[in-house]
Amino acid sequence: MSEEEKLGNQFEGKEEYVRDVFEEIAPYYDRMNGIMSMGMVRRWHGFMMKKAGDIRGFECLDVGSGTGEIAFFVARKAGPQGHVTGLDITPGMLELARRKMAELDLPSQVDFVLGDALDMQYPDGAFDLVTSGYMLRNVTDIPKAVSEMHRVLRPGGKAIVAELARPKNGFVRWFHNIYVSKAVPMMGRRYDGGQKIDGRQAAYDWLTTSLEGFPHGEEMADIFRKAGFSEVRFHVRSMGAVNIYVGVK
Ligand SMILES: C[S@@+](CC[C@H](N)C(=O)[O-])C[C@H]1O[C@@H](n2cnc3c(N)ncnc32)[C@H](O)[C@@H]1O
Repeated sequence: MSEEEKLGNQFEGKEEYVRDVFEEIAPYYDRMNGIMSMGMVRRWHGFMMKKAGDIRGFECLDVGSGTGEIAFFVARKAGPQGHVTGLDITPGMLELARRKMAELDLPSQVDFVLGDALDMQYPDGAFDLVTSGYMLRNVTDIPKAVSEMHRVLRPGGKAIVAELARPKNGFVRWFHNIYVSKAVPMMGRRYDGGQKIDGRQAAYDWLTTSLEGFPHGEEMADIFRKAGFSEVRFHVRSMGAVNIYVGVK
């Protein structure tokens, strides 16, 4: 498949770079997420759960689970008969998620597992629900990641995926551009010290450049449709800064 067909910002060595970025930022990832989202990230997760509906007893998968925040939201809703797997490619993020989990009193069991969203170790139809937050910009093949989500869902199962987007409204878009291209790297500098990762850009500069050419809105919804999802919708949150995609297998 050509680089264009993989969509988004792709480059040689991306997988390793992304893993090294997340290894680097794992210890302060949650704090920065709260600051950069202006405290809205938990509301986005809450909205994802609303879209999930009644998931009691469900077998759930959170892809690119990072420090586990979405997996914990899912676990609280899936209840004692439910089970959640959090899958991620970065050992440092998984380790942090496990440490956080030990402090929580979650109703369902959650397992954090090393794995690649592009080639998941699960059989077809293994899950009732797949969630994913802010991972797709980071993968080397966006359509493949969405196809994998579709593959591991059972027929009738739902995927709920949150990702960054770009506001449609001209003024909001102008403000958003400045925020993402100037304010985010500036805030990030306090944490990443501007230190280049793998000789490339600093960790929080990647948050900005990962948005270059990143499909969102209808374009992303089409990727979900092409992967085989039906009833595909996207919900615009925070004036277009984030979209939440929902599709049914
Ligand atoms: C921006 S973080 C999001 C973490 C979490 N979902 C959240 O909402 O905070 C992206 C995560 O995706 C993971 N990731 C990137 N590429 C991946 C891949 N191919 N397979 C699995 N996880 C991946 C990274 O390690 C990182 O933890």
